[in-house]
This record gives sequence, structure tokens and C-alpha cells, in this order.
Amino acid sequence: MKIEIEKCSTSRIGEIDFSSNLPFGKYMSDHMFICKWENGQWGTPRITPYKNLSIAPSSKVFHYGQAIFEGMKAFRDKNDNIFLFRPKDNIERFNKSAIRMNMPEFPEDLFYEALHTLVGMDKDWVPSGEGRSYYIRPFMIGCEEALNAVPSAEYLFMIIGGPVDAIFKGDVKVKIADHFSRAANGGTGFAKCAGNYGGQFYPSSLAKEEGYQSVIWTDDATHTLLEEAGQMNFMIRIGDTLRTAPVSERLLDGITRRSILRLAEDMGIKTEVGPISVAEVLEAGKKGQVIEAFGCGTAAVVSPICGIGYKDDYIDIPALSAEESFGERLRQRIFDIQYNRTEDPYGWRVEVE
Ligand code: PLP
Ligand code: COI
Repeated sequence: MKIEIEKCSTSRIGEIDFSSNLPFGKYMSDHMFICKWENGQWGTPRITPYKNLSIAPSSKVFHYGQAIFEGMKAFRDKNDNIFLFRPKDNIERFNKSAIRMNMPEFPEDLFYEALHTLVGMDKDWVPSGEGRSYYIRPFMIGCEEALNAVPSAEYLFMIIGGPVDAIFKGDVKVKIADHFSRAANGGTGFAKCAGNYGGQFYPSSLAKEEGYQSVIWTDDATHTLLEEAGQMNFMIRIGDTLRTAPVSERLLDGITRRSILRLAEDMGIKTEVGPISVAEVLEAGKKGQVIEAFGCGTAAVVSPICGIGYKDDYIDIPALSAEESFGERLRQRIFDIQYNRTEDPYGWRVEVE
């Protein structure tokens, strides 16, 4: 299906001071992609000026939470070429989320074309500078006007995006969850659905009151296995091995996680994917073997953890030099690929024409 295009008459780009801070997700570029599912099929795909939606209060998304999203980025290299990073992985994951939430899948080819067309049109909004990027947010909501609790018969699929700065959260102290859960067996943890995030806010706020910046989510059944770090995947270096939990129906299969595991292997960093128990981490902490820990995800790439708390225990993780830190070396390696500063033997970087 051909994408119909309506360009904005005047760009808003002059309203943004690109030399100052670009807070995450605050600024949206000139255009958006939108396509509606009704009568059992996707309608005309359109790119229009970025604007508000008009949606009935009875729309299903407000009541039953059929809402999924993705997060990905476009990067500018030093010659002003623009690149996406592993876009097909996000498209695939989006449709997995759609299936779990009983929503229609969005055609992969059209999704791919929409990303390229939208980012191509709003190219000027892709900022330059290390860590800076154009954050892309594809999402879908159930928009049928009806309060009966059955799947929506209508959906809006959209892509919006805007310029963002490098996210550096500073040194993050995390608390291991011993009661609250982000996801459960048989639940929606592997899907990127809105409810997974809404449900995290309250326990995260409680952790903040105790002086932590984030929560390490544990398995819901026993709270003995470390699984995710806030809204990111979790990695911990015990001795010389970089470890992370296996993907499961409780974990989001992160594209950054996947990239790090592959790069680490090629950089000669020993990795291990398998269950990580609270007990062994506490034990390793006592022996001084917890060398490094970080969250990883699209937004921050690598977000260093400086301490892990669990009940009355606390493991302090002193910062390493950039050369010593696996996280820092991996972040640089990912940046090198994303910003076209190096060869990409993996085929992860995709140029936007
Ligand atoms: N885990 C959760 C819960 C997330 O929301 C994200 C962010 O998207 C990730 C992990 C990291 O995934 P990715 O690297 O694909 O951004
Ligand atoms: C990430 O990209 O790492 C995220 O966690 C996305 C977040 C804004 C929900």
C-alpha cells in the first residue's frame, strides 16, 4: 500500500535549541505516521503533520489497556548520513507484543517503509553528537468506542519521534525487589505493553523513598532470581564473567542486550546467559567479586549501577576506569557501529535514504 503524504506547511524545528539539553521524549518532530485498522484490515497509511488525536472517552485503550509500543533510534554520522539500528528486530518484537495483547500485527514491509519515509522526511531533526539521536516511538492502541470488555475492533498504529540527548543517569543505586513484581509466568513481561510500565511506577517510587534510583526485578514466584533492571535488561560482572538472565516470558528480549552479548563474545569478554540468584550475588558481593553491574536498553545503552541493596544487605560497586569497564567498552563499541565510525560486520546499521 502506498503511503499518502501530507507535509507540514511550516517546520517547528526553529523552536528547538539544539545546542541545549534535549530531554528524553519531550520534543516531537514535524511529522507522524498513522494507519487505522477497521473492518478487519489496515486502511490507508499516512504521514501527516504531528498533531493531536481526537479520541472518544469510551475508546477501549482507556479502559482495558490494549496499548503496545517500541523504542528505537536514528543516528547522524559525521557526513550527515542517517542510520537506523536493527530496525527489523523492533518490528518483529512489536508484532510479538501485538499477538500477546490480542491486537492485529502491523505488516512488516509497511512498518519498515514507514520508518524510512518518516525519518527521511524529518532528517533535519536527527541531532548530531555522541549519544544524541532521534528517538522513534512506534505504538498501537485499541480505539473502538465501546465499553464491553472484549478486544477492540479498531486500532491506531502510529510512529512519532524526536531528538534526544544521551541519557546518563549517573551512578544508579538499585534495590532488589523482594515483594513487588514487574511480570509473572504466563503474563505479559516479554511484551512491550503499556501496563508493564504503569505497574512499575509505584514500587519504583517506594524504592526512591528509600534512597534507590531503580529496582532490580526478580522472578515473581520466588523473588530469588535477578531479571531486569528498571526498564532495562540487567547485566552483572562477577569475577571476569559478564552475566545476564535468560529471556523468558517474564523478560523483554532487549535488542541492546542481544547486541552486547554478541559484541562481548567478539571482544573476548566471557559471557554467561543463565539464572542469576540473589544468594550468589550477595555471596559474590561479600567476597568482592561483584566487579560491575549495569542496565542496558535503547534509551541509555548502558547505565552503570554503583550499588545493589537487598533487605539489610548492600553491595557497593566502585566505578572502574573506562578501559577496565566492560559496560563502557561495550557502549563505545555500540556507538561506533550506530554512528558509522566503524565497519558493521553484523549488518545492524541501516541507512535511511
Ligand atoms: N527491558 C524493558 C522492560 C524495557 O522496557 C526495555 C527497553 O526497551 C529493555 C529491557 C531494553 O530493550 P531494548 O534494548 O530493545 O531497548
Ligand atoms: C529503553 O529504551 O531502554 C527503555 O527502557 C524505553 C523506556 C523509555 C520505556
